[in-house]
Amino acid sequence: MDIFRIQGGRPISGTVRVSGAKNAALPLMSATLLTEQPIRFVGAPTRLVDVQTMGRLLVSLGTEFTERRGGELVLTTPNVEETTAAYDLVRTMRASVLVLGPLLARCGQARVSMPGGCAIGSRPVDLHLKAMEALGARIDVEAGYVVARTPPGGLVGGRVVFEKITVGGTENALTAAALAKGETVIENAAREPEIVALAQLLRTMGVEIEGEGTHRILVQGQDRLEGCRFEVPPDRIEAGTLMCAGAIGRGSLTLTNCPVAHLEALVEKLREADCRVHTGSLSSEGIGELTIEAPFRPRAVDVMTGEYPGFPTDMQAQLMAVMSVAQGRSMMTERIFENRYLHASELIRMGADIHLEGRTATVRGVERLSGAPVTASDLRASASLVLAGLVAQGETVVRRIYHLDRGYENLEIKLTKLGAMVSRESE
Ligand code: EPZ
Repeated sequence: MDIFRIQGGRPISGTVRVSGAKNAALPLMSATLLTEQPIRFVGAPTRLVDVQTMGRLLVSLGTEFTERRGGELVLTTPNVEETTAAYDLVRTMRASVLVLGPLLARCGQARVSMPGGCAIGSRPVDLHLKAMEALGARIDVEAGYVVARTPPGGLVGGRVVFEKITVGGTENALTAAALAKGETVIENAAREPEIVALAQLLRTMGVEIEGEGTHRILVQGQDRLEGCRFEVPPDRIEAGTLMCAGAIGRGSLTLTNCPVAHLEALVEKLREADCRVHTGSLSSEGIGELTIEAPFRPRAVDVMTGEYPGFPTDMQAQLMAVMSVAQGRSMMTERIFENRYLHASELIRMGADIHLEGRTATVRGVERLSGAPVTASDLRASASLVLAGLVAQGETVVRRIYHLDRGYENLEIKLTKLGAMVSRESE
C-alpha cells in the first residue's frame, strides 16, 4: 500500500489545472448503458480508481470500455449481457448502485448488491428503491442483493417524491425515467451540478428534460437513445481541496479549468476567513481561472454542511484542516452524514484542538501542527490529512493513500508543482 511522505512548512504557490469531476463521471458512465450507441467522453478523470472501477463494472455487464489518452473514454453497450452488479465490485464503490436505473430502463431487470455502509455512514439506498417502485418496478431483497423487475411493458413514467434529498437517488431516477413510457416528475430532486451534467448528457442522447438544477425535474421518456460526445465538467471538490491548500499554505495559488460558479459557498467561507479570492472571466458554464491568496494565518469561521448550493459535505474535512491552524474558534456542523469526522482524531494527533459533540466539531486553531504518522480512513479524510501535513512542522506520513487515489488524480504531482514536498512511496 502506498504512503505519502510530506515535509511541511513550504509555501504553496503556482498554477494548476483542475481535473474532470469524479462525481459527475460516475453517473455519466452509468448512463451509457441506456443506448447501444457509442458515447465518447472528453475531459474524464481516467486515472481515478473509482472511474476504473466503474469501467470494470460496466464491462462485466457487457460494455466495451475504451480509454484514450488525454482524458478520453468511449463506452459502447451493443447488448447488456449481464444484469447483476456483483458484490465484490459494489462493496469497493457504492456508486455502483447507479447502474440500477439504467439496467431497469434498458433490460427490465437488475440485480445489484446492497452497497453496505462505509466509513462515513450507513448510506442506505432505500430512497433509490422507492423511486424505482414509483416507476413501476417490483423490488425484492434477496441474500444481500436488490432484485428489481419491471412489468412486461417496462418502466412507466410516474411521480417520484424524495422524502429526503439524495444525489444518487436523483441520478437513478433520471436514468430510469429516460426510457420509461410517458412523463416522470421528480420532486425534491437534488440540485448538485453533477445532476445538471447528467441531465445535459441525457438531453444530448435525446431525452426531453426540464428543471434540472431545481427541486422539480420533468422527464419525457423515449423508446431509444442516441450516442454522442460529451465533456465531463471539472471537479468542484478537487478545486475546493486545492483552494484549501492555498488557504493553509500561505501562498498565492491559481487554478485553471476551475468550476468557479459551483464554488460560491466555499469562496464565501474562505473570504470570511480573510483569504483573498479573485476570478477571471468565466465561460457560459461558469468555468475559468480562480486565484486564492492567504499570506497570513486564516481567521476561524463557523460552517454547516448542506445540500447544494449549501456548503458541500465533501469539503468539510478539508476546511477542518484549515481551521485547525486558524485564529480563533470554528464551530463545524456536519448535517449530511452521521459519521464524517474520522479525520478529526488524526488531526488531533498532529496537535489540532478539536472537540466532537454529536454532529458538531469545535475547532480551536493552534499556531502550528506537528508532523506525525497518520492513517486515512476515507477519501476526503485523506485529503484533510495531506493538507495538514503541508503546514505541519516536520514530517507527516499519510498511510492508506489508496483512499485518496479514488478521487484525486496525481495529487502529489499537483502539490509538488505548487512548491510542496510530497513524495509517494510504497509502504
Ligand atoms: C454523493 O453520494 C457523492 N458521491 C458523495 O461524495 C457526496 O458526499 C454525497 O452525494 C452528498 O453530496 C457520488 O456522487 C459518487 P446522497 P450519495 O444519496 O449519492 C442519505 C465523495 O467524497 N440517504 O445524497 O451516496 C445518506 O445516507 C463522496 O466524493 C438515505 O438515507 O449521497 C446521506 O446521509 C462521499 N437513503 C444523505 O442521504 C438513500 O436511499 C445524502 O446521501 C440515499 C441516501
